Amino acid sequence: MTSHPPIARILSTGLFTPPNSISNDELVESYNGFVDQWNAAHPDDEPKTHSSAAFIEKASGIKSRFVMDKAGILDTQRMRPKLPVRGDDEISIMAEMALNAAREAMTNADLGPDDIDAVICAASNMQRQYPAMAVEVQSALGIGGFAFDMNVACASAAFGIRTAIGLIQTGARRVLMVNPEICTAHLNFKDRDGHFIFGDVATAMIIGGPDDDGAGSFDILDAQLITQFSNNIRNNMGFLDPATDSVINLDDAGTDKLFKQRGRSVFKEVVPMVSEFIANHVDQLGIQSDQIRRLWLHQANLSMNQLIAKRVLGHDPDTDEAPVVLDEYANTSSAGSIIAFHKHRSDLQPGDIGVISGFGAGYSAGSIVVRAN
Ligand code: COA
Repeated sequence: MTSHPPIARILSTGLFTPPNSISNDELVESYNGFVDQWNAAHPDDEPKTHSSAAFIEKASGIKSRFVMDKAGILDTQRMRPKLPVRGDDEISIMAEMALNAAREAMTNADLGPDDIDAVICAASNMQRQYPAMAVEVQSALGIGGFAFDMNVACASAAFGIRTAIGLIQTGARRVLMVNPEICTAHLNFKDRDGHFIFGDVATAMIIGGPDDDGAGSFDILDAQLITQFSNNIRNNMGFLDPATDSVINLDDAGTDKLFKQRGRSVFKEVVPMVSEFIANHVDQLGIQSDQIRRLWLHQANLSMNQLIAKRVLGHDPDTDEAPVVLDEYANTSSAGSIIAFHKHRSDLQPGDIGVISGFGAGYSAGSIVVRAN
């Protein structure tokens, strides 16, 4: 057990899981139906190839994903979620998801709105430019202080935790961080290489000061961040689109207004970057690899996580050491490591050490070293 003093504490977490799930078989049946229709309608073009549920599970470890709308995604004439427009005076869908997770986190920590001084909405997509999603969540919960949004793609939650620590060090008592992710809205379901990657979810976390008590809390020993520019994961949708006459071509599997990636390159480049980053971080804290009880890693690809965990721990990890949620949830961007932490931490003993790590586009990565109380 390391005697390293905490710089902050994780007091609780919350999770909102959408009610609908899509299995690989259902997704592939829909994709293949779309392909058959497309090939029939484009006899002079190179025919598109069917997808395969066996490939998806083998290449990614994903078996299913939760989604905010199932029917629109599986409709071969649509191939994208159908989310009704809400009026400006209604709660917006991302805020609603975040609230569900936030309320659970507040209940779990036995904290009310008066106990929290700031709200961060950290996610890889915001449904509008402003007002900030975080301010809407803050208002709906009746929290004082201030709130703001931040986006560092799949590393958003890790960057959110580091930012919350900074706010606590400069006077906030407790910070609520929410991570509503509607990843299916930026996923191109007509793209065979990636149509299976993402799911929807929202997570929440309450971070307090190092002396904040609370049963089941985790000390944060340190938090480090890193970024390194790469074009291998990119989404070019933006507020300049109307000014540049850019349009989303919804018939185009290659549109760059949705998520696109060079998956192989991401794999090859992110594994060494993240494993060295985490290993150096724990080393700086005087923690040996055999003292790390658990890694709650970003959930994008099973082999990638196994390789990162192997390089950090020095041996092949089991699911007790590196829990997996992407089989059921798929890649939920910034929320993935927080779902893993939410579901797989209650068995840790006081003094056990673990690392929460989010990583993804940018490239960007965060390493949060924690210790169970
Ligand atoms: N169904 C069946 N076969 C498919 C397929 C599908 N849906 N998609 C691709 N294939 C085929 C390809 O055509 C290729 O066939 P070939 O060998 O005959 O040319 C083969 O499967 C391998 O394709 P490839 O794209 O190289 O697969 P991969 O093993 O790299 O796995 C990913 C793809 C995306 C799962 C993997 O690269 C990955 O997860 N990378 C990391 C991504 C990541 O973490 N991103 C972060 C996002 S936040």
